[in-house]
Amino acid sequence: MVFFILHSSFFIIMYDINKIREDFPILSREVYGKPLIYLDNGATTQKPRQVVEAITNEYYSVNANVHRGVHFLSQQATELHEASRETVRRFINARSTNEIIFTRGTTESINLLASSFADSQMEAGDEVIVSTMEHHSDIVPWQLQAAKKGIVMKVIPMNDKGELLQDEYKKLFSEKTKLVCVMHVSNVLGTVNPVKEMIAEAHLHGVPVLVDGAQSVPHMKVDVQDLDADFFAFSGHKVYGPTGVGVLYGKEEWLDKLPPYQGGGEMIQSVSFEKTTFNELPFKFEAGTPDYIGTTALAKALDYVSALGMENIEAHEQELTRYAMQRLKQIEGMRIFGEAEHKSSVISFLVGNIHHLDMGTLLDRLGIAVRTGHHCAQPLMIRLGIEGTVRASFGLYNTKEEIDILAAGIERVSRMF
Ligand code: ALA
Repeated sequence: MVFFILHSSFFIIMYDINKIREDFPILSREVYGKPLIYLDNGATTQKPRQVVEAITNEYYSVNANVHRGVHFLSQQATELHEASRETVRRFINARSTNEIIFTRGTTESINLLASSFADSQMEAGDEVIVSTMEHHSDIVPWQLQAAKKGIVMKVIPMNDKGELLQDEYKKLFSEKTKLVCVMHVSNVLGTVNPVKEMIAEAHLHGVPVLVDGAQSVPHMKVDVQDLDADFFAFSGHKVYGPTGVGVLYGKEEWLDKLPPYQGGGEMIQSVSFEKTTFNELPFKFEAGTPDYIGTTALAKALDYVSALGMENIEAHEQELTRYAMQRLKQIEGMRIFGEAEHKSSVISFLVGNIHHLDMGTLLDRLGIAVRTGHHCAQPLMIRLGIEGTVRASFGLYNTKEEIDILAAGIERVSRMF
């Protein structure tokens, strides 16, 4: 008991929400004359001053293209860029910076892998396993490959709580299965999928796994070695970093085997009209000038969340989610989609017959930013038998007071219908 009290007061001192919010200037603005209540963190997160300042500082004092210049600025920019790769490596506990490919975001990471993997490892009739709750970016890249190569997609079903059916998953493997592609956390349901166990199962069949970590990296500690993920993708902008930069992690033995995704500068060792030899990892997959300012800012964002502690962020958001689930369930006509045992800070809902777009638009007039629609997961909407939901998703800076305002806002909108 004493330990608990000491521990919780220590947590409160460490996790000073008012101080944290001061780092995010946008959180103190108003919309329609009301204080902004930003609950669309699943779509993108706001940026702390430290991240924005890293961008302006580098443009003002270091800017030069990386890897190619002998001059001072180019070398300094290269050092920053490569130090950022090391920050990412440490953050997800990859073995080597050779395993960290910078991309434009999760979507590009998955497209890169789908293209390279299908080109080199799959033939007509081969199968990729995805899940019912996947984002379009885990589905459409495979459909593009399916159209080119005749690849078949198999889908893991889920129960009504929004949990993947593990027994059904196990039955999907065949001799033709070449890859599993599954999201760590659902952007609609908040379900935290048991990816470690799912990876272990795939490995029993000698099948590698790509984990879409877009919605997990901002909310929990991720250790790719502990998961034993073969590939892992995430976006900078969802983890308090800049837009336009993301990561594909891949085990070195896999990345070595895969062909480049795009051709151009940086990814080559030598080029003649007869023959090109490719650069070593990770550069083989990074054609053209990288977003080296973005990678510096991404590293700042990762430093920022690491300083707060991913465990502390997770504890804070779990508390918010528990509180919000309890509070929203008191609202008449409330239907919540996603009640998995292990759930992250995303709550999708509908109230009575109110259209999600009407609810979202009216909440917006109260200063409350939520997302509405199918959330790029139309197959999941079909499974749920709905067109779309209203989605509130919490970040490290949200508060219980904001959830009270959301609940009061929903009740006010409901009374209007
Ligand atoms: N994938 C992002 C979301 O879920 C845009 O909102």
